[in-house]
Amino acid sequence: MENNYLEHPVIKNILSRKSVRKYSPAEVEDEKLEVLLRCGMAAPSGKNVQPWELVLVKDRAMLDAMGEGLPYAKMLADAKAAIVVCAVEEKCDYWYVDCSAVTENILLAAEALGLGAVWTATYPYPERMQVVKDVCCLPEGVVSLCVIPVGYPAKEYNPRDKYVTDKIHRDKF
Ligand SMILES: Cc1cc2nc3c(=O)[nH]c(=O)nc-3n(C[C@H](O)[C@H](O)[C@H](O)COP(=O)(O)O)c2cc1C
Repeated sequence: MENNYLEHPVIKNILSRKSVRKYSPAEVEDEKLEVLLRCGMAAPSGKNVQPWELVLVKDRAMLDAMGEGLPYAKMLADAKAAIVVCAVEEKCDYWYVDCSAVTENILLAAEALGLGAVWTATYPYPERMQVVKDVCCLPEGVVSLCVIPVGYPAKEYNPRDKYVTDKIHRDKF
């Protein structure tokens, strides 16, 4: 490539993000968690409705309870914190789209701060959403998209290269 756009720190961060599912015993600084929340809420949303509500969970018993109840979130057992991305359902028909943007922002911010994180789905699985609703005491009308366990990576992870030129269609498919 002629240019060095791929060396831009923001671009590099996007291309470096990866799901991290094993965490070291190191605590995660509160200041970093606040940055993750702030970056999540910087997401775009349809008509700027911002239907999201974010639950920061640090309580060990709650992290364990969600890990036990959610089939693909067992890594919560050694996560130091989790962010549950929720929405007030009646604010927007496509709340899960807006909340997906929030989630990706949080994952990118975690990568930038040297943290490991992963999107673990609750929506659209009613039984998983119920687990989170019960553990986090979500009020009626508040639904969850996902739980993002957070910790320092226990080992080095490499991002997958997903750049497939066959999937790019120029002007016509
Ligand atoms: C909508 C969605 C749901 C996901 N649910 C889970 C999950 O429940 N548990 C999990 O370990 N990973 C989950 N992931 C993470 C994907 O497995 C991961 O993003 C994918 O394998 C690509 O790997 P990468 O994130 O390292 O690029 C989910 C990702 C998305 C976007």
